[in-house]
Order: sequence, then C-alpha cells, then structure tokens
Amino acid sequence: MKRKAFGLVSALALAAALGVSACSTPTGSASMTPPAVAPAPGPEAVDSHTYARPEIARVVDVALDLAADFNAKTLSGTATLDILAVPGANEVILDIRNLDIQDVRDASGQPLRYVVGDNDAIKGQPLTVYFPAFAANERRKITVRYSTRPDAAALQWLSPTQTAGGQKPYLFSQGQAILTRTWVPTQDSPGIRQTYSARITAPADLTVVMSADQLTPKGEAAANGLKSWRFRMDNPIPPYLIAIGVGDIAFAPFDERTGVWTEPSRLRAAAAELEPTAEMVDAAEKLYGPYRWGRYDLLVLPPSFPFGGMENPKLTFATPTIIAGDQSLVSLVAHELAHSWSGNLVTNATWNDFWLNEGFTTYFENRIMESIYGHDRAVQEQVLSWDGLQDELKSLPAADTRLHLDLTGRDPDDGMNTIAYDKGSAFLRTIERIAGRETFDAWLRGYFDRNAYRPMTTAMFLADIRTHLVKGDTALESELQLDAWVYQPGLPSNAVAPVSNAFTPVDAAAVAFFKDKGPASAIPWAEWNTQQRQRFLGWRPEGLAAGADWLTAAQLADLERILNLANEGNSELTFAWLQIALAHRYQPSVATAEKFLTSQGRRKFVLPLFQTLWNEGDWGRPIARRIYAEARPLYHPVTSGSVDQLVGRP
Ligand code: BES
Ligand code: ZN
Repeated sequence: MKRKAFGLVSALALAAALGVSACSTPTGSASMTPPAVAPAPGPEAVDSHTYARPEIARVVDVALDLAADFNAKTLSGTATLDILAVPGANEVILDIRNLDIQDVRDASGQPLRYVVGDNDAIKGQPLTVYFPAFAANERRKITVRYSTRPDAAALQWLSPTQTAGGQKPYLFSQGQAILTRTWVPTQDSPGIRQTYSARITAPADLTVVMSADQLTPKGEAAANGLKSWRFRMDNPIPPYLIAIGVGDIAFAPFDERTGVWTEPSRLRAAAAELEPTAEMVDAAEKLYGPYRWGRYDLLVLPPSFPFGGMENPKLTFATPTIIAGDQSLVSLVAHELAHSWSGNLVTNATWNDFWLNEGFTTYFENRIMESIYGHDRAVQEQVLSWDGLQDELKSLPAADTRLHLDLTGRDPDDGMNTIAYDKGSAFLRTIERIAGRETFDAWLRGYFDRNAYRPMTTAMFLADIRTHLVKGDTALESELQLDAWVYQPGLPSNAVAPVSNAFTPVDAAAVAFFKDKGPASAIPWAEWNTQQRQRFLGWRPEGLAAGADWLTAAQLADLERILNLANEGNSELTFAWLQIALAHRYQPSVATAEKFLTSQGRRKFVLPLFQTLWNEGDWGRPIARRIYAEARPLYHPVTSGSVDQLVGRP
C-alpha cells in the first residue's frame, strides 16, 4: 500500500483541522462527559496494522443496519460512517477483511467510486472510497452496503446443538485485536475512536445484545416475522470493542446497574457465581474513580467462546468455564471490569503497547480482589501470576519479553503474549512499592482522568509518570528503572517476587508427594482453596528438562484417584492436571482430555494442551489429531486458527 504525500497541506494545518494539539499532550478530561468526537491519534501512534490514514480522513461514528441470517451465516446490510477530513481530502481508507462490498453511496444516495486493494494475510484489504474534496470543518456520511462471509474470523455461528438449550442458534463476535474488520467496514485501529449505533434484525425468538445501550429492551416487530433491536454507544471507543451476541438469552440483575445475560438454563448458576460483580464495581470506583459507562453487565457465552473474558464496554463477554460453583474464578470479572478504565478509557494506541491495556488491568484486577477478598487472597493470585511469568521468561525469545513490542509485519494475535499481563503488573507493583501506595494510587487515578478517551503509547506513559509521579526526583527516577522495565527483555533488578504464606504448606505437601514420593492421601486437598490447589498442581522439580518424566504411572494414578481429578469441575484445575498427566503419556487421562477439549474452546486451555500432546510425538500426535478432528467444528476461528498452525487442519 503506497502512502502518497498529501498535497500541500502542512502537518500543522492537518493537526489544527483535526483538533489534535501539535505536541499531542493531553489537555486532561477529568469531566465525566465523553467527547462527542475523539481526537485523532497523534503522529507518535502510527499503527502498522491499519490501512487507515486518520490524519487525512477518519471515521468518528459508525451506524450499522444489519440483518443476521442464520441459514446463510451472514450479516448483511449497511454501515453508515461519519467522516471527518482535512480540507482538500478526497478519499478515506477503511480496513476490511473477507467482506463482500456491494456499493458505497454518499448521503444523498449517489454512488461513490471505491477500490478494494490487494489482500494482506494479516491486515486484510484497504477499501478506499473517493469523494469530492472536503471543505473546512465539513463532516460527511458515506454508506457501505456489504455482507460478511460465513467464515468471518470475528464471528461464530453456532448451531442449536452447540448451545446449552439445544433448540436455537447463536451468534457472537470477538473483535480484539484486528478482527472487527471482518464484520464492520471501518478504520480498525485502537487509536481511532468511534461512537456507534446499530439496528440488528434477527429471528423473533432470539435476543440481541451489544456493547452499547439497549434502546429497545424487547426488540421491535420487523418485516417477515423478524425482530429488530436498536443500540447506541455514545462514548467514543476503539472499534475492537464493537461486539454483538444473538441467541436465546435471558437476564438476571445483581443491582440497579449490574447483571448477567446467559442462556435460560444456565442463568441461575451464572447469577449465583458472578454475584460479587456489583460489589466489584463499587470497589473499583473507590480505587480509581467513577465508572463512566453506565451499566456493567456480563454475557456468559456458550463454551466455544475463545477467551476467558473480553472487556466489551457495558457488557463483558465471558467463558462459561469460570462457572466453577464456588465463585473461585471471579477474578476474571475483576479483570474485565478493570478494563473499563485501563483499555476502554485509556487505550493502547497500537498493539505494540498492548501491555498498557493488560498490565495495568492485571494490576487493577488484583487491587479489586484485595479490597473484596483481602490481602492474602490477592497475594496468592500475584504469586500465581509471578510463577507464570518465570515460565514465560524461560520459554519466549528474549525480544518478546519486552513490554513494548514491535509487531510490524506480525499478526498481533501471535505476538501478544502473557508478558503484557504478568510482567506489566509486576512493573506497576514495583512502582507502588517504591513510591508508596498513596502516591502511586493518586498518580494512577490522575492518569485515567488525564488520558480518558485517548490512545496511549509507552512513551506517553513514561512522560506522564515522570511529570506526575517522579517530578524530577533523581533518586526516585534511578530507583524505578522505568526504561529498563518497558524497553529491555527480562526482569530489572528491582523486581521483587511476591510471597504468600498460604503457599508454604502447599509447597511442603508438593515436595512430600512429587519429590519424596509420599502418598497422595497425605495431601490436605480439602483444606485448600482453588489458588492453593493451582499452586500444588503447578509445582515442578527444579531444573526440569523439557520432555523429562518426573512422576511414575503409580504416582499419577494415586493422585488422580485421591484428588478425584477425572471428575474435577474447576476448569483451571482440570487444565493444570491434564498438563501434568499428558506430558507423562498417562493413558487414563486421555478420556478426561477428550472430554475437556470437546466441551469448551477457550484458547488458553485448548492450545497448550494440544501443544503438550504434540510434544509427546508418536504417542501424543495421533491423539491430538483424533481429538482435534472431533473438536474443531466446535471452536471459534480464533481458537481453531491457532490450533490449525500446530496440528494442521483435520
Ligand atoms: N482483552 C483480553 C482478551 C484478549 C486479549 C482478546 C488479546 C484478544 C487479544 C481480556 O481482557 C483478557 O485478558 N482475558 C483473559 C482473562 C484474564 C482474567 C487474564 C483470558 O481470556 O484468559
Ligand atoms: Zn485483559
């Protein structure tokens, strides 16, 4: 895609016309009212994963009018885009991937010339729309008539048998990182914020929800016995947060601003499990300021949802694998809720700065957990995250262990890893420890207020913390090692491992069983909470060589029987057990693995288990191929795309 110079308009004139301050210093927006039009991303936030040139013409609002056809597995209709452009601009470039474009028209219905450029395997295609030159301060609408393809990567069309109820089909979307362009033709970059509205037409027996205000709580009758549902999102958001769910779903409230949607037969269990949600929103507000999105609801999806959770604004999407029966996995809600500040309000400008979304959120998540469940529980979760970090640091190429990434030419989905979460949160805990909690909290709250509705880069974060926390204190500056944390691989010397006393007896029991080969009956499993059990099953011998067996079949059988691991209902524990069992080619666990891998499609569980089987060569690969052939039709494209790369398409 060649980037031609834009006439004679100077950069400063461009910036002025688009309302960007030339130095792009945030002016601060402590007010609660979101800007009707978000500022354009500055020159420091050039996103290599978009074709858009927002400095020339950018989308500020998207209005969708789409019909969901469950037989054809398509969404079709129109997207009307509100375009803001510099004087003289005569084109706008959108991102599309795998879309069928029928036509593009102006506000009076006249056809506009457009060109769909060459396809890039990662970015998709540029859709360039041409129009008469813009005048100063002009805003214009264009309408793209299009339809999605049945294999749109953001969408999963479930047959009735893939749902809990078994009677009605289901559709849901997953936009992050760059999948929204497979169902909405817009500028799909996290720095280009857009408000949106939608009218969605669907079969009358289904309910439609979106990451927006529901304007028609019961839907409206439409032609052909269908129903339409209307939505509006007034806060400008990055397009990866536009989201939809359509299915047989019902709602249960927690309090006046929170509640949960899910299939009717699962509603009671979901409501009981996720009931701490209301209290979490209150706790989050006490920590870092008002919740700015109105409602906070959850949508618990069918088991194929590819992530644990997705922070779609006003409506977090969640996997049903967090319904453990004992509220033990609710930190996921704390996490997605925290994104309402870190991510949805202050947003990574490009996917290189993903850690600004996930590291801040993981830190904030833990503070919510601490305020509700206490310091001990919070530290247990910190230690589990730290343990994960040690494994990642060993297994990833050094360059991928930096917080600030360079994903140019890579699929962001492949380059984004858990370093962002675990090293990112360890970094913020380090600042908190050195600066003191009070100082740190005041800075973080101010950071959210100053940068609300704006894209954030690593360099902008460094500038903000230097101005508002370090404030020229040279001793503090050198103690923090800010640049080393964000730009260097590995861990700086001021990182401190968290320690949980609750894990002391767990580690002792792990040594007694795993190392000293004691009986499983001596493990005080019933006395432990889920986090202690995760710690136990995560234990590994010091200096374990890849592929080495460190347990006997008799030990594995003893463990499986005494802890009843073949029937474990907690997904994190089933996963942790299978990681051990499959790595030892423990045959009785294959049935458990098959059941687990064909009953949920969360990539965090699915991909590592297929990898473990794959590592077990002539034993594991045939098993992996057999299970994958059975499981693949169940998975969302995000999960099957990843497993295809490992196991191959069945
Ligand atoms: N935003 C992420 C999910 C995501 C990341 C989707 C990258 C696409 C690309 C979400 O907030 C998240 O981090 N989910 C975690 C759960 C969390 C508790 C760590 C997950 O899905 O496992
Ligand atoms: Zn997250």
